Amino acid sequence: MKKIYTVLGLILLSPLFALAQPAPQLREDNIDEVLKAMTLEEKAMLLVGNASHFTSSTAVVGGSAVKVPGAAGTTAAIPRLGIPETVLTDGPAGVRINATREGTAQTFYATGFPIGSCLASTWNTGLVRMVGEAIGEETRDYHCDVILGPGMNLHRNPLCGRNFEYYSEDPLLTGKIAASYVLGVQSKGVGVSIKHFAVNSQETNRTGVDERVSQRALRELYLRGFEYAVREAKPWTVMSAYNRINGTYAQGNRDLLTSVLRDDWGFRGIVMTDWIGERADMAIPDQVRAGNDLFEPGEAKQMNDIIDAVKNGKLDIKDVDRNVRNMLEYIVKTPTFRKYQATDRPDLKAHAAITRATAAEGIVLLKNEKGTLPMKDVKKVALFGVGSYHFLSGGVGSGCVHTPYIVDMVEGLKNAGIASTSNLTEMYTKYVDFQKIKTEADRDPARWFERPDMGDQKLPEIAISRQQIQAEASASDAAIITLSRQAGEGIDRAIEGEFNLTELEQEMIGNVTAAYHQMGKKVIVIINSGSVIETASWRNLPDAILMAWQPGEEGGNSVADILTGKVCPSGKLTMTWPIQAADHPSTANFPQDDMTIYHYESMKGWSKDGLPNRDYTNHEEDIWVGYRYFDTFGRNVAYPFGYGLSYTTFAYGQPRVKQSGDKITLSVSVKNTGKVAGKEVVQVYVSAPKGNMVKPAKELKAFGKTRELKAGESETLTLTMDVRDLASFDETGSQWVADAGTYRFMVGANVEDIRGTATASLKRYVEKVSNVLAPTHAINKMIK
Ligand code: BGC
Repeated sequence: MKKIYTVLGLILLSPLFALAQPAPQLREDNIDEVLKAMTLEEKAMLLVGNASHFTSSTAVVGGSAVKVPGAAGTTAAIPRLGIPETVLTDGPAGVRINATREGTAQTFYATGFPIGSCLASTWNTGLVRMVGEAIGEETRDYHCDVILGPGMNLHRNPLCGRNFEYYSEDPLLTGKIAASYVLGVQSKGVGVSIKHFAVNSQETNRTGVDERVSQRALRELYLRGFEYAVREAKPWTVMSAYNRINGTYAQGNRDLLTSVLRDDWGFRGIVMTDWIGERADMAIPDQVRAGNDLFEPGEAKQMNDIIDAVKNGKLDIKDVDRNVRNMLEYIVKTPTFRKYQATDRPDLKAHAAITRATAAEGIVLLKNEKGTLPMKDVKKVALFGVGSYHFLSGGVGSGCVHTPYIVDMVEGLKNAGIASTSNLTEMYTKYVDFQKIKTEADRDPARWFERPDMGDQKLPEIAISRQQIQAEASASDAAIITLSRQAGEGIDRAIEGEFNLTELEQEMIGNVTAAYHQMGKKVIVIINSGSVIETASWRNLPDAILMAWQPGEEGGNSVADILTGKVCPSGKLTMTWPIQAADHPSTANFPQDDMTIYHYESMKGWSKDGLPNRDYTNHEEDIWVGYRYFDTFGRNVAYPFGYGLSYTTFAYGQPRVKQSGDKITLSVSVKNTGKVAGKEVVQVYVSAPKGNMVKPAKELKAFGKTRELKAGESETLTLTMDVRDLASFDETGSQWVADAGTYRFMVGANVEDIRGTATASLKRYVEKVSNVLAPTHAINKMIK
């Protein structure tokens, strides 16, 4: 405490010095001068988030800023040098700040955009960029400088609790979608923080787990998406992950934060920690040296540790100065520094239209038997499932946005001129504690780490007798069943009841389809979930299935747009839907028990290293993640990577490939051969010639989306790749290598549905990179 007063004293006295010698005021072109004028205390202050400097010694997760209530954190102001406080707000599905404030009747709602997996399912980089622009405007207009997103960890396994915030099991798709989001946000003069760098693919014990993974899987999968985003979009900031990677915490991992991020990829922005505060088992000087510029949310002790370490010779002032310079370079770019006149009134109406259209494009049509959709002659539907009445627009935790409203299924259909049966609506309203569900979805950060408790939500399904279902079938033209899944921060999903359907849900689908089919009426299932669920055991029952994700505040309207045919579905899956959760090889090394709640020391498997999948996770599946595994080894899946149906059909022309220098260009024509207008996602998978390394049968190397093509209309898409995109990571030489030989470029509508192939002979390509991040423990590879 004494030290804090000393620091405060110095800061308060600083105006006296200023009288003697005017302190330079920060400008874009005098960073050196300001750096020189800074005291050690001021430098330390700038490297530690401002959240709890002088108020408490405990870290606060998810909202302690004063200037913008509900924002996640700030950087310190040093008025003597004209350095303003900058504000960091959560995302990524929109600006997360408090909707109301003391002393004013004004509200500060932010648009709830579709979650990451829905955004990525559009495969539409232009649209994602537009979403980024809208989020950038809201960030700026709410007095914030950085949005803490996009989340871009890889979907290593469908059970990860935060998959909803992330994009895909594929690093290229992840990287390109993230780059578009970043370019959009940053075009508005505010920054992003791409997160969580890296390998934060599980939530169980996320702040302690050691992710043990080969250099090849790191480079080809877990780091690759970040690499694309850094190279293509130059994010202002990167947020390191909580977890360790091969023994060292990401936030103090010099290999990761300096050798890979800055030396190999040329990153020029700042790196901040995730919101953890002081770590008992990693010294602050190590983290400063590693290349971590900013500690969030910030504790006075961290600042004092920096000061002490420099004074005791344990930390070189050059390391501090390098990080402070990075901070100053960041600050001069911010809207706060540039005195942007924020309005606190972003255009929520215009952004609602963007989220509605984006979500509709991200919704994936999984099944559509006998043209069930778009709905024809349907005037009234019976809406089953709590989710129909309490539609989930987003996930739980720091990614939950305070939206002005959420359009549920009842309202969305009503807006489209389709009524819902009143008996069922009354019944659900009577049984379901909607207030409880609401509180659950947007709960206090202190409770983020508990499994969402939906309380009574299954009661109506128990209460609805077969007789009542029969009555509903007579009273309506079709049935819609909404299956909802909530997930969030700090906890992974369970197989039973979360990935798999509950018995009640299965029973409901069985009973409703039996009753409706008997009367020749259709049943449509809407999945309202952030990530994948089991479908293989029940998908033969309903007539149509839509994966609606958690599609943002306009959700009900977006779904209705698809159901009615106002929008032709064009979303495609960005991850494989397995038949069972255990089909993913990573499931064998993924937390299956609720290890955050149980007393895990007594659990089977406990050793001096701790408990597998809690204290350390061995990536025994190595590079065989998602379709790379299923496709290469011919395993059956429920729905393959890249899959999604349309209301129309497309024919592909013969693809052509051209090489010019380091660029490869593939062009292919796509023709709408059906009856309605629609867009098509074109996916380019590449198969490499046989070399020394075992490789996946195909890997996604480019993709594109047509504009809306009218029936009979064609478009030629031209997609470019860099030769380095085709390389695999050779651990022995720590280098990217693309062998010489014939490459097959397969153009497909999904990974299993290849429509045309072109080949090109390429020369050998080699690119050396830092030889870092090697595992410190032997990892037994499942597939040799
Ligand atoms: C999350 C981050 C988030 C931060 C600030 C952490 O718990 O992991 O994604 O940005 O909190 O709220």
